[in-house]
Parts: sequence; C-alpha cells; structure tokens
Amino acid sequence: MCGIIGYVGPQGTDVTSILLNGLSRLEYRGYDSAGIAVLTSAGSLELHRRSGKIANLADAVENGSRPGQGTLGIGHTRWATHGRPNDVNAHPHPDCTGVLTVVHNGIIENYAELRQELQQTGHTFCSETDTEVLSHLIEHYYFHQASHDLVESVRFALLRVTGSYAIAVVSREHADLLVGARCNGPLIVGLGEQEQFLASDIPAILKHTRRVLILEEGEIVALRPNSVTVSTLDGKTVQRGPLIVEWDAEAAEKGGYPHFVLKEIYEQPDALRRALLGRIREGQLHLAEMERMQRTGLFDNVQRVLIIACGSSHHAGMLAKYIIEQWARIPVEAVTAAEFRYCDPLVGPETLCIAVTQSGETADTLVGIRQAREQGAPVIAITNVVASAITRLADAVLYLQAGPEIGVVSTKTFICSLAVLYLLALYLGQQRGRISNEQANTILAALERIPGQMQHVLDSARSADDTIEPLAKRIARVSSIMFIGRSVGYPTALEGALKLKEISYIHAEGFPAGELKHGSIALLDPDTPLVAIATSSHVYEKVVSNMQEVRARDARVIAVATAGDEGIRRHADDVLYVPETLEALSPLLAIIPLQLFAYHAAVARGCNVDQPRNLAKSVTVE
Ligand code: AGP
Repeated sequence: MCGIIGYVGPQGTDVTSILLNGLSRLEYRGYDSAGIAVLTSAGSLELHRRSGKIANLADAVENGSRPGQGTLGIGHTRWATHGRPNDVNAHPHPDCTGVLTVVHNGIIENYAELRQELQQTGHTFCSETDTEVLSHLIEHYYFHQASHDLVESVRFALLRVTGSYAIAVVSREHADLLVGARCNGPLIVGLGEQEQFLASDIPAILKHTRRVLILEEGEIVALRPNSVTVSTLDGKTVQRGPLIVEWDAEAAEKGGYPHFVLKEIYEQPDALRRALLGRIREGQLHLAEMERMQRTGLFDNVQRVLIIACGSSHHAGMLAKYIIEQWARIPVEAVTAAEFRYCDPLVGPETLCIAVTQSGETADTLVGIRQAREQGAPVIAITNVVASAITRLADAVLYLQAGPEIGVVSTKTFICSLAVLYLLALYLGQQRGRISNEQANTILAALERIPGQMQHVLDSARSADDTIEPLAKRIARVSSIMFIGRSVGYPTALEGALKLKEISYIHAEGFPAGELKHGSIALLDPDTPLVAIATSSHVYEKVVSNMQEVRARDARVIAVATAGDEGIRRHADDVLYVPETLEALSPLLAIIPLQLFAYHAAVARGCNVDQPRNLAKSVTVE
C-alpha cells in the first residue's frame, strides 16, 4: 500500500510544502520512494522523485530546484509492489507528452496486457511499475477521445482497468483541476476554503481542514478551488455531506487506534484481500510467478520441500508443512533458519526450498538460503518487501502485498504469509495432479470467505459482548501461560504463545497437545492458565481429552473453538469463538483472538506494544 496526496488552490500557494508535509504524515503507508509534481504559476509541471524515505525527497527539493509557487500538485510515498524501489519507479508517473501525471495506490492486475497494447500504439514506458499504464491510458483518451477533458479521460481509462486503485491525476492544461478516483483503495477529500485536498488518509490533510468527504468504491472526484463534484464511473453524480474529524494528527496516523499493532490487527481482512488479489480469478488459481518458474524446469526433479524461516514466519512454515503434504502429497520439512545452516543440510536440485521472511532481510534466513542455492536447490521467496535481499537469492518471489507493518510484532504479515503458502500448496498440488479442480474450487472459495469471517471476529471483539479484552486483563497478572494444539492447531499455539510473550513479556510456551503428558503437565497449577486450540478438526476429541487432563489439575483452560460448539464449554473456563471454515484454513481465524489477547494483556501490563523491549522489526544480525 502507498500514500497519495493532492492539492488544488489559489495562485501563489506553496504547494510543495503542503505536499511534503502531507506525505510525511503518510509515511507509515510506505517508504520505499517518494515524489511530487507541482504545477507552478509559470505553467510548468515540475517533477521530483527519489528512492528512500520522504526525507530524501525533501533534501533533493530543498537543495535542488524547489518548485515555485503554484495552484496544483500531487505527491506519493511508495510501498513497492511492482518494480524496484528506485527513482525511476517512484511516482508520480508522467505520460509521453509530460502534460499529465499520475500517483497511484493499489495494484493494476491487468497492467501487463494494457502495457503491451499501449506500447503497440506508440507509447513509451520509462518504469517497471503497473501504475505507469494509467498515465498512458489516460493520455490516450485525453488526446484522442475526450478532447482534453481530464475527468472523462480518467473515467474512460478506469473502465479498462481491473485491480485496486486510489489515484490522483493532474494536467498542465488545467491549473484549477485535481482529479481523484478509488476502487479498493482508501481516498478522502479534504474540504478547504478556496482550496481542496485529496489523500489516502486523514493525517495528510488534518493540518488544513477537519471537514472530509470519504470517497466510496468506484467513485471519481473533480476538485476545483471552489467546487467538489463526485460521480460514479458510469457518470452518475453523487451527493454526499462532509464528516468532521475529531482526531489529532498522531492518532489519525494510527487510524484512530491507540497503537499500530491494533490497527494492523484490524487491517488484516484488507491485507488478506491484497494478498489474494490477482491470484484468484473466477474461482481459479493464478500464480504467474510459479508458472514462470515451472517453465524453467526447476520443479522437474523436486522430491521434497524445505521451508526455511524464523519466528512467526517459521510458524507459518510449520503450518504449511501440514498443508503442502496434505494437498501435494510431497514430503515437507519446516526448519528454523538458524538451525538449518549449521546442520550440514542435505539439499540439492531435488529439494525445493521456500524462504518465508516478511522483511526479506533476516540474516539467518539469508545465509541458510545462500547455502541451499550453493547446493543447487531451487528457491522460492515469500516476502513483503520488494527487492529485499531474499529476492536476489530466489528463482521466484511471491510478495505478501500486505503493505508496511509498523508494529514490530508480525500480525498481518503472518496472515499474508499463510495465505500465500496456502496458494503455493494448492499450486503444487495441482501441478502434481493431487488436487482436483473441484477440490481447488472448494479451497479457494473458502479462502475468499476468510476476510469477511475475520472481520466478524474483529467486529465482535470491539463490541459490548467482547470477551477477549476482559479475559486478557484478568490473565495479565499471571507469570506463565501454556498453549497447546494438534495438527495445524500446534503451530497456531506456537504463534499465539510468541505473540503473548513478545509484547506482554509474560512467559508463554506452545506445545503439541499430545506432548503435555510427557513432562510439561508438571508445570500446571491454578496460577498457570492453558490455552487450547480446539477448533473443529479431525483431532478435536483428542484436544478435548487434553483439556480434561488440564482441568483435572485445577488449571484454568481457555479454548479457541468453532462457533456453535456449545459442548466445549464443559471443558473450558473461557471460550473464544471463531467462525467455521475448512480445517486446513482454521489457523487464519484461530490466531485472531490470540493476537488480540496478547495485545490487551500487553496494554494491561503497560508494555510498549509497538516497539517491545529487545526486539527489532528485521533481525539482520545472526
Ligand atoms: C514475530 O512477531 C517476530 N517479530 C519475529 O519472530 C519475526 O517473525 C522473525 O524475526 C522473522 O522475521 P522475518 O519474517 O522478517 O524473517
């Protein structure tokens, strides 16, 4: 995800400062590169773009040719999804003539075919981005069909586009017009006096106005200093009154949430939709990166899979072991990178290595993957950061498309890593003829329902009936908690324990439920609660019997269970319900209450939730 901003106002405005200040409030949405375009009073559309954080751009502008005063401008701070984070791929992107320029947040799914079509009609592309097709598509209509009408040109162009977008577009020929549009990407209008603002999020414009219009899906807005016109893609005018923002700027960056971690937990349905975007179409799986890799023959000799990762990414890998073995019937091992690299590993062309690393920079994972490559193993990287170090070690890269995760602990990147691993497992299963189309359709349909089901869990967690926060506050005083699960519930238990210990500093440990009686059960007492992952599964009865063992020792049992399972209440002191889904997909939902449980326990203990002690977002040391 990226941050965009736009401004239109009276002559003589310091548009550059408005854009740069606004972008600095959107940096949490992405910081690979940044850029601005300003239409000065002299009539020139000046473009400044720099890779890296907004500070780089501000330095370049201040130390170079700072655009003069003007009336109009757009800006962008980028989280790369297509194309390396460099100056050329930085937004804004001009058209061939330099009359138009565009900034975009989102993913144009059909950019490849549009790019080819536009190139064949003579358009010259400068960047690797999906966004640039918008610049040339709008250019085509602007000069050839819409008689330089910018709003109509944008409308025609967007009717050709599939995917997600929130855009701002300006033309050198219309000094008083700023055009915006959205589909699956947030975009708000800031209503000023003789001036108007456009932005991905409220923080960017809060300094100037508290009166905002929230654009809805499929709407286009034409902003002029004294007017705002909203219409739908098919041209119908929309009337909508303004909202008044009560937040301060800092709270607004967190979307009104007290911490980035909570905001990112609540962002997970959208992050999951982004992870699936373009990869499931008409109920079919589309993994272009895998198809390209298959054509190289790298899969031909694969006999086993090795998933190399650390921390939450390792837990995602452990989950994927069960899923890939179930759907593709190929042996899978999930190893922690720090152990893998020192065990003189047996890998070669027959071992497909999958590196899971949201940062793409984890030293142990990088070294392990280098070792695997030296021994001839084909490598797939699953990461959230475009052009990160891991991508340079991989034969194929599957991006999480989760957007930046500011909180140190992995929440939405864990969910998106899991989602991408499910898709990869399905691909391998289909490629090996182990999954029928009917099975694949069932799985994909269930996967596409997860974001809505996740939203249901999140909505009930902030309703008056919420049981998670009160429970977490009660439990916050304990010194140790145990987590158990079986099958896919076991890595879920591990992830729930990791979340709790890394933000609340409560000692928490995850175990395979069947292992409890082999020693760990000695730890149980009335002051040591136990969390059981007891969602419906083929091992449900076994988990219930473990819960009975635990309660026989007067320990408090908290169960994560499937909605409708009333019987579980006989075996647990507290039950956190999640909607029913396929057993294989259940961790995507079961982890949500555990994330919230960890968050509220940490808040109750006064911990630094966004930046826990001793931790780093990317562990680049061995
Ligand atoms: C997860 O909450 C932790 N912050 C940590 O375990 C993390 O998952 C681990 O360091 C791996 O990071 P990576 O995915 O960027 O490689």
